[in-house]
Amino acid sequence: MKERLLSNIQGINEEPQEQRLRPQYLNQYIGQEQIKDNLKVFIEAAKMRNEVLDHCLIYGPPGLGKTTLATIIANEMNVNIRYTSGPAIEKSGDLATILTSLEPGDVLFIDEIHRISRSIEEILYSAMEDFYLDIVIGKGEESRSVRIDLPPFTLIGATTRAGALTAPLRDRFGVHCRLEFYDIKDLQTILARSADIYGCYIDESSTYQIAMRSRGTPRIANRLLKRVRDFAQVKNEGLINEEISISSLDLLQVDSSGLDNIDYKILECLVKRYEGRAVGLETIAITIGEESITIEDVYEPYLVKEGFIERTPRGRKATAKAYNHLGIEYKSQ
Ligand code: ADE
Repeated sequence: MKERLLSNIQGINEEPQEQRLRPQYLNQYIGQEQIKDNLKVFIEAAKMRNEVLDHCLIYGPPGLGKTTLATIIANEMNVNIRYTSGPAIEKSGDLATILTSLEPGDVLFIDEIHRISRSIEEILYSAMEDFYLDIVIGKGEESRSVRIDLPPFTLIGATTRAGALTAPLRDRFGVHCRLEFYDIKDLQTILARSADIYGCYIDESSTYQIAMRSRGTPRIANRLLKRVRDFAQVKNEGLINEEISISSLDLLQVDSSGLDNIDYKILECLVKRYEGRAVGLETIAITIGEESITIEDVYEPYLVKEGFIERTPRGRKATAKAYNHLGIEYKSQ
């Protein structure tokens, strides 16, 4: 199989150290309680009936654990998982290669499933619904359609934008899991677990300091932990306490709300450049020189959740909290 088909996704090319942090079973997965409770039932029911688990769609902002959850589902079902991504499946033959190589019950994980092409998507319909593929072979008059039966499998699709999926594809997923941002307590538990895996000591006020600046996102929390651990190693004999946490997070230039320089650019664009008016996504993108999709998928969800910006029918607006954060006086418009 082509290398690219199964690479290029979060979690597959990462260092063994990061892999170690990923929980393998539901009971190690922190937070997202409702999703876990539901999945436990669906998994147990499928196992009791000796059936494959229904296809699952996992969606939410980057870094919340979509790949991790897919891996856990496969582990809990005691089956293999194959990883690929929407953009990696270029031709119908690519999809056929992957699907025909599955063992009965296996999980196929397609990251960024909203980016598969229309023609591939249409082939997926029968694969998902009735476990067969209709593939056209040859060109022109010579062409004919062949039907390939597939082993029953579970498709797990992951996306940052469930809204970008077509309704027919979305409707073929029996289980929908919407991952939410993690609260501070859950992030602290994740950080304590990660520190434990690294074999380093961290106190509660340090996990709090890191969690506060992690934008509700475990991937960011773990990344900050690694850097704080570096500072602690060099400057504090490996001990992570509140003082070394705060000083290293300041040096890393993550502010007390976890906002980075792109977040600031967005807020400043709304507050200073457009003086608090509602601004369209494209305009923000052009003004700050970022792609609109990146703003919409990566930055905006957290800014909205924390109440720094609001979405109105006419565009995005900065809130009083955003003015406050920038130290600019807010005049209600
Ligand atoms: N690492 C990343 N996400 C996690 C989670 N939800 N639980 C435990 N460890 C994690």
